[in-house]
Amino acid sequence: MTKTLTINGKIYPLDTKKTLLENLESQAIKIEFHCRDGHCGACRCKLLSGKVNYISYPMAYIREDDILTCCSKSQNNIKLATY
Ligand code: FES
Repeated sequence: MTKTLTINGKIYPLDTKKTLLENLESQAIKIEFHCRDGHCGACRCKLLSGKVNYISYPMAYIREDDILTCCSKSQNNIKLATY
């Protein structure tokens, strides 16, 4: 069954091999980003449900319910909201 990435209430297919940022880009969804390696925090999103695995350590300051989309992947359905 296809996994889904929901952002701001819109549902898209989730490719579990790609980062969340790459998933958003492949759906032509524009979100902020800069460094693409977990340092700047520009790609920060609020995690509404689901779980992420970081492929590199997130160095930017994030709140407890925030995630960095550039350096994380998800293996299951995930819901995000942009700031
Ligand atoms: S783009 Fe810089 S932390 Fe994600």
